[in-house]
Amino acid sequence: MTTINLSGRTALVTGAAGGLGAAVAETLHNAGAQVALLDQDSEANRHTATRIGDSAVAITADLADLTQLDRAHREAVERLGTIDILVNNAAMAPMNGLWEIEPAEWDAVFAVNVRASFFLTRTVAEGMRTRGFGRVVNIASLSGQKARPTSVHYGVSKAALIAMTRNFALDLAAHGVTVNAVAPGMIETPMVHTIGKQKMAELAADIPVGRIAEPTEVADLVCFLAGDTGAFITGATYDINGGVLMR
Ligand SMILES: NC(=O)c1ccc[n+]([C@@H]2O[C@H](COP(=O)([O-])OP(=O)(O)OC[C@H]3O[C@@H](n4cnc5c(N)ncnc54)[C@H](O)[C@@H]3O)[C@@H](O)[C@H]2O)c1
Repeated sequence: MTTINLSGRTALVTGAAGGLGAAVAETLHNAGAQVALLDQDSEANRHTATRIGDSAVAITADLADLTQLDRAHREAVERLGTIDILVNNAAMAPMNGLWEIEPAEWDAVFAVNVRASFFLTRTVAEGMRTRGFGRVVNIASLSGQKARPTSVHYGVSKAALIAMTRNFALDLAAHGVTVNAVAPGMIETPMVHTIGKQKMAELAADIPVGRIAEPTEVADLVCFLAGDTGAFITGATYDINGGVLMR
């Protein structure tokens, strides 16, 4: 198997304090990249960066706030030099049903899951385009491809992220910058722990492979797309859902 070598590359991963983002940051670091972890939870983020290694950088920002997003981008560039790889991973997923969602909650979900990903990608991609190299990986979700009983705002935001992936991919394809999405089914992270053990076991029983994903399994796919291995892949959405959606 090809070993992915990211030596000399730099990566910014959002929502990296825990869960999938932390696994992605660690996997990219282990492949040789210098990583910056961005999260609103400064303490957990610092802790995760320290665990990953001395060269890992922790940046605190609430991505729902565009001023903080801009500041975080500037800090990442100051500390990394450039950003070669961007992983838009941060998201929120309130578990309300279709009839319960208030406008403020709808807006909050879109501010993080869609608006922040759009403006951060646009800002970071300027440098990537100038240098003629870049990798953007958007963490979407099976919920953006298939209806679920709750969290319609989350599902619609992930469908938007998949559409946005194609738009950026088209715009940047001729400039050495690839933009792809990864659409996981259930992953073993704090986000799914809110569902409860009993419900999680029921949901896992409906997955053809019979279990939910480990964060590292999704992180390995992100790393593949971030490496030279991903050079001819752009505008794609990779399903990684244990066979829940086959197409
Ligand atoms: N866990 C799953 O089953 C699953 C399935 C499909 C897709 N995903 C996607 O994977 C990604 C990671 O999910 P996870 O399960 O690790 O979630 P998580 O809730 O465990 O982690 C999300 C991280 O994002 C950070 N974050 C949230 N809002 C933020 C904001 N406004 N500014 C800065 N940081 C913010 C949180 O502090 C947290 O560290 C998300 O995009 C999620 O939609 C998860």
